[in-house]
Amino acid sequence: MNDYLAELLEICGEDDGEVADYIPELATADPDRYAIAIATLDGQVYSAGDADVEFTIQSISKPFTYALAITDQGLDGVLEKIDVEPSGDAFNEISLEPSTGRPRNPMINAGAIEAHALVAGDDADGRSERIVELYSRLAGRELSVDEDVFESELSTADRNMAIAYMLKTVGTLDDDPAEVVRGYTRQCSVSVTVEDLARMASVLAANGVAADGTRVLETSVTRQVLSVMATCGMYDAAGDWLTTVGIPAKSGVAGGLIGVLPGQVGIAVFSPRLDEHGNSSRGVRAFERLSADMGLHLM
Ligand code: DON
Repeated sequence: MNDYLAELLEICGEDDGEVADYIPELATADPDRYAIAIATLDGQVYSAGDADVEFTIQSISKPFTYALAITDQGLDGVLEKIDVEPSGDAFNEISLEPSTGRPRNPMINAGAIEAHALVAGDDADGRSERIVELYSRLAGRELSVDEDVFESELSTADRNMAIAYMLKTVGTLDDDPAEVVRGYTRQCSVSVTVEDLARMASVLAANGVAADGTRVLETSVTRQVLSVMATCGMYDAAGDWLTTVGIPAKSGVAGGLIGVLPGQVGIAVFSPRLDEHGNSSRGVRAFERLSADMGLHLM
């Protein structure tokens, strides 16, 4: 398997797109890094390339925080605040459902900021700590925030601040918008490797059960999360992704990308250059090839 994965990276090695630079610290990433990992439900991990390089989780945090919000508030409580319709817009568009003011879905920034605020905790630090704890349980090791990326991202978070203040104005967000964005930015700045991400994705594939047999998330929660990943996880490229690759997925601007094959494996790719939708260019190509080679498409 490791040989096949190394060959896959080679075949899909053409590197186009640009490293994200709206967060200054991300612009310093080595654009040539490339890694892939597959984690089975019983904890076996196969990988190739730069599998031990750390990068920030960014938007791949969104499905996991959404899972925690549902666990804390119940599905109905979360649906009252965040819709589940694809927006067809970029990840950082405001995209609110006009009659209720709910963000269109929890995978775009507006919905993810709202989901962060729905996690139980006394303040931004309390929420962020519980979130990092959950990610650590899913990854099977203690994860932490990359403080340099956090500071850099927070100092340029004007657009997310604007989104959060807009949510407050329309009555969807109850907490202090600046504090919520601070916490959301911490969640995005958690440092991971491609193997961590594959393990986290494999718990979703196992309906919430970790490789050691302990239950981390309820099955009803992972079903909701995977459904939203399938329809909204790749933003305005979600339709293209589902027709070509055919599995629930989520990308992040640091170049990470996860895919979940329910009942079978969690998969993650890392390559920092992004396409026009903010998804890893080589990551998308590797998934397309993997899906074709291994018949992953669910439809
Ligand atoms: O909120 C932001 O802009 C970033 N912390 C996360 C955006 C992101 O990862 C979009 N994904 N491709």
